[in-house]
Amino acid sequence: MHDLRKGAACHDNWQRPLRDLRISVTDRCNLRCAYCMPGEVFGRDFVFLRHAELLSFEEILRVVQQCVALGVRKIRLSGGEPLLRHGIERLIEMLAKLNASDGKPVELAMTSNGTLLAKKARALKDAGLMRLNISLDALDEAIFRRMSGSSAAPATVLEGIAAAQNVGLAPVKVNAVIKRGINEGEILPLIRRFRHTGVIMRFIEYMDVGNTNGWRLDDVVTSSETLAKISALYPLAPLDAHGPNEVAERWAYQDGGGEIGVISSVTQAFCRTCSRLRLSTDGKLYTCLFATEGVDLRTALRAPSTDGAALRQRVAATWHCRSDRYSQLRHEMTERLPGRIEMSYIGG
Ligand code: GTP
Ligand code: 5AD
Ligand code: SF4
Ligand code: SF4
Repeated sequence: MHDLRKGAACHDNWQRPLRDLRISVTDRCNLRCAYCMPGEVFGRDFVFLRHAELLSFEEILRVVQQCVALGVRKIRLSGGEPLLRHGIERLIEMLAKLNASDGKPVELAMTSNGTLLAKKARALKDAGLMRLNISLDALDEAIFRRMSGSSAAPATVLEGIAAAQNVGLAPVKVNAVIKRGINEGEILPLIRRFRHTGVIMRFIEYMDVGNTNGWRLDDVVTSSETLAKISALYPLAPLDAHGPNEVAERWAYQDGGGEIGVISSVTQAFCRTCSRLRLSTDGKLYTCLFATEGVDLRTALRAPSTDGAALRQRVAATWHCRSDRYSQLRHEMTERLPGRIEMSYIGG
């Protein structure tokens, strides 16, 4: 029997505690980044979830309450694009009231593409959102359009970033996924744009998420290449991680220009300390970003007989069974294989 006392740490098969919950609040997005939702696949005919299939805010809250009781300290709202979910401020208000099992307020963050942020930043802050990570892959308009598969302009995202800073959603982090031959020339412009601004610029290795982005190892610009490029112009010094389960490696400009980060999920897997559970828009729990199957909670949530304890038991059992370490295994494979690796080869 699992220890389900409130606040008792919940560990998986590799002794990793459950600490973070990422919640997808919508499967829709107004961009079509080639590495995430390529337009050819997510086109006019693509069938997104119907409203009745989404977890309601009340249902999300019930899941979160049990996750918090099992040790979750940080919640990140994502999507799709979370700002497309109607009334998202109300969900934030509901979640912002929660305390973690250590008595401190649960950390409440969001990852957004920033295109709708200029109008929303104030309401998000007032509702209780603490931090925002914003995706921006290029400052050059043509490259941004190519990366985002849309006609959106980087200026719109920059306005969103400024709005987030103005309302005090600090620190704002900007995420750029770097794809070889497409936006690697944007690394230095992004660095120059955000040095000395308080924004933490982070570069992400392009990952083989899902089955649709046609990932090739050759397309990955490694964090070490990125750091070499930056430090040749702006010398860097390493910073300590905020905690054991932080995905980014932190660096500081030696001249006091602020902090940057690199996320090396391809070349330096961080599965060993991965404490993240994911809740999909339609109420499935996924214990890994690369998992192929989730555990359905929605049916239980909608059954009148399911109380908090039953829900907690289900979440705990899911975490206890967890053995995922996809990036670590992929890394071991890519070390042995020359060039390209296919997802099918390592079993998705
Ligand atoms: P912070 O709380 O600010 O550290 O946020 P974060 O970096 O965890 O979240 P964000 O949504 O900004 O994600 C940044 C990048 O890290 C994205 O490319 C994510 O897909 C990737 N990432 C986040 N969590 C995981 C994970 O558990 N596994 C892998 N492989 N990548 C992850
Ligand atoms: N590889 C790396 N990062 C990705 N993201 C989405 N798809 C990928 C991928 N294939 C990033 C987005 C966003 C964050 C939530 O995940 O750019 O910043
Ligand atoms: Fe995916 Fe984010 Fe791009 Fe939308 S903005 S397609 S959710 S990476
Ligand atoms: Fe965690 Fe899976 Fe990412 Fe590894 S690949 S860090 S187990 S989510």
